[in-house]
Amino acid sequence: MPATTMDQLVALCKRRGFIFQNADIYGGLQGVYDYGPLGVELKNNIKAAWWRAMIYERDDVEGLDAAILTNRKVLHYSGHEDTFSDPMTDCRKCKGRFRADHIKDGKCPNCGSTDLTEPRPFNLMFKTTVGPVDNADNIAYLRPETAQAIFTQFKNVVDSTSRKLPFGIAQIGKSFRNEITPRNFIFRVREFEQAELEYFVDPGDDEKWHEYWKEERIRWWEEQGLPREHMNIYTTPKDDLAHYAKACYDIEYQFPHGMEELEGIANRTDYDLGNHTKAQEEFGLTSKVHANPESTQKLAILNDEKKKWEVPFVIEPSMGVDRAVLAVLTEAYTEEDLGEGNSRIVLKLKKHLAPIKVAIIPLKKNNEQIMNKCHEIKQNLMKLGIGRIALENTGNIGKAYRRHDEVGTPLCLTVDFETIEQQPESVTLRDRDTMQQIRVNTADLPNYLREYFMK
Ligand code: GLY
Repeated sequence: MPATTMDQLVALCKRRGFIFQNADIYGGLQGVYDYGPLGVELKNNIKAAWWRAMIYERDDVEGLDAAILTNRKVLHYSGHEDTFSDPMTDCRKCKGRFRADHIKDGKCPNCGSTDLTEPRPFNLMFKTTVGPVDNADNIAYLRPETAQAIFTQFKNVVDSTSRKLPFGIAQIGKSFRNEITPRNFIFRVREFEQAELEYFVDPGDDEKWHEYWKEERIRWWEEQGLPREHMNIYTTPKDDLAHYAKACYDIEYQFPHGMEELEGIANRTDYDLGNHTKAQEEFGLTSKVHANPESTQKLAILNDEKKKWEVPFVIEPSMGVDRAVLAVLTEAYTEEDLGEGNSRIVLKLKKHLAPIKVAIIPLKKNNEQIMNKCHEIKQNLMKLGIGRIALENTGNIGKAYRRHDEVGTPLCLTVDFETIEQQPESVTLRDRDTMQQIRVNTADLPNYLREYFMK
């Protein structure tokens, strides 16, 4: 189990510019965080790895980028208006407000009192109004999941791509939930990002594909640096399933605060398309549906073999991007004893996730020849397309190494007097994890780095 604590991560994230409390100067906004210069790189790299695995390395998934503001009808027919709630309880003594299912031994987590109100449902959706008139007809929601737009755009995607089952639609984007008690840093927040795939399959093939996606997603997490032994696959008991699901696996990870959900992989059956489709009575829907007199489209697909139109089942791997950031940081954070009273913090991120790929460090601060060479090398490396290249000019090479160890930069490239005085021109490359240094000719750098970051 990783020994990393949440305090260590929070401190590193603030110190090195990964994650800041939102509206910090005004005391913050609870459950809302901002990603700083390095955090945005890390998060983008995680999203890029997900998108690559879902879209570029497969030929059965299309992408989508839908709006956050959501028509009320979508969330009415999806069941979210009625059922997307958590049980809330109040402590009569300290006036604290909590999720009733997080209460242990019937005691207030704040003051220990047992004088708690009966739990009542609290809808988690953020409501707003669209346009200048603030009335019930103009209510819209900030989406509580990216999935719904995938269902409502199902026909448009099928018509524009001629897809046949099985196929998926993937989307990455912000979602919002008015959590009763946001907590554990970026683990449970009110504004967050999701990466969701809705994979549409023939009814009857759903259980096979559910197993397939569970394995596929575990493999992907391993590629992001999470070892299998730090994960747990939790099968959600029937009574705890979300209102739309027939079955669900949670991939859990050993976070600093405990083994908790990283990604849910749900079998949503034909529940969503079945609720949103026009002419529900034409299809042999297996899940419970609201009557829907308002939809204008049939959300079905022609099964060529069976020669009939059917509402597909859907398997949904749904990842929390912020939880992914927290998990890879937890796993990568390492404190190393270097002997003789020295130690270092090193973020052993996978190369493809590292916010900065190469840090160019001049051996001597403000030496014009060395600095010119650093700038020249930076210009050349920036063209390689391997990611962010940083140029340090702190004048203290030891401090620069420590700083880049802490933010997970895989390679530090040092320009020294040998670089500018000897031919062929060369630099040193220092490996973050082994701290070994090698000398590489400048002319060979592009190929060396391309190969290094491809591996
Ligand atoms: N779409 C599943 C979830 O948001 O939890």
